[in-house]
Amino acid sequence: MIILGVESTAHTFGVGIVDSNGERVPQGSSKARTEGKVLANVFERYSSKDIGMVPDEVMEHHERVAEDVLVKALEEAKVSWKEVDFIAYSAGPGIDPVLWCGYHIVKKWASEQGKRLIGVNHCAAHLSVGKMWNKLENPCYLYVSGVNTQIIVSEGGKYRIMGETLDIGLGNMLDKLGRVLGLGFPAGPKIEELAKKGKYIELPYVVKGMDTSFSGILTKCKQLVEKGINKEDLCFSVQETCFAMLAEVVERAMAHNDKQELLLVGGVGANKRFCEMLEMMCQERGAKFYKVPMDLAGDQGAMIAWEGYLRREESGDIEVNAQWRTDEV
Ligand code: ATP
Ligand code: FE2
Repeated sequence: MIILGVESTAHTFGVGIVDSNGERVPQGSSKARTEGKVLANVFERYSSKDIGMVPDEVMEHHERVAEDVLVKALEEAKVSWKEVDFIAYSAGPGIDPVLWCGYHIVKKWASEQGKRLIGVNHCAAHLSVGKMWNKLENPCYLYVSGVNTQIIVSEGGKYRIMGETLDIGLGNMLDKLGRVLGLGFPAGPKIEELAKKGKYIELPYVVKGMDTSFSGILTKCKQLVEKGINKEDLCFSVQETCFAMLAEVVERAMAHNDKQELLLVGGVGANKRFCEMLEMMCQERGAKFYKVPMDLAGDQGAMIAWEGYLRREESGDIEVNAQWRTDEV
């Protein structure tokens, strides 16, 4: 099957095209199963120099780039509309008006081309594409993006959230800190760069059971910025503190669920220092650490296409659901 997946929950408008018969493991082998192959994954990301995301601007951005992104993806995949079996789209969670903007675009394409729509959960798509890419069976997931910071396991076909942020996601926290430091949006990559030259200063370390909290750390950072703290030191210390908090809780979740595999997904997973710390933690407990390549880590359409393929029997045109949680999938 050829699936065209469309992402439009927040800053990114993306079209990914996946062939479900991409890579075949020979039938009869104990690992016989079919894996997807990404034929194209084109996206445009809204960014701003000094402020965060303004929904009206994001919608205007997505409407402006949609047709172009689609044409590029079809060209890159060398696929015509006729060959596309159905359209998968991200139905939520996300920014409500941006979700509707994306939904209207896919609805138009579906009716013009006579294709079926399959709405999928954006968070589940991050997990599934990471699992597909690494050919994993049932890992412990650490999902760290803008909005989400969750430790997840799958039990009997349902996702269970073992721990999560009690307030804001780590990515959003880094972006908010970036605003205070005048780094623009998204700030994560810039904070990573600045951190390379920083020294450690103590910040609050907030772990409650398997949950974490980042808003108190942000408040402390803002106070330090007002006092004129060195940017590099602050970036370094924020990374060390927050990544250590997550390494601690995820290690506990792995021990609790007897997991020997950890899969990191979501945009913050692009951070090299974060991966290094998780890799070290896994090595120490004889477990294996997996991540996804940069182009599949953040938001994009290929993950939506693959999740659509997996949910093709159970989902359909479900409009949008801005509050759709991973454990409701
Ligand atoms: P969600 O998946 O929860 O809907 P999202 O769509 O905003 O959230 P992603 O695209 O997965 O999230 O990730 C975006 C986030 O990743 C931003 O907050 C950004 O600052 C952060 N990020 C990107 N690159 C890096 C990096 N190198 N280091 C730290 N954070 C990063
Ligand atoms: Fe995302």
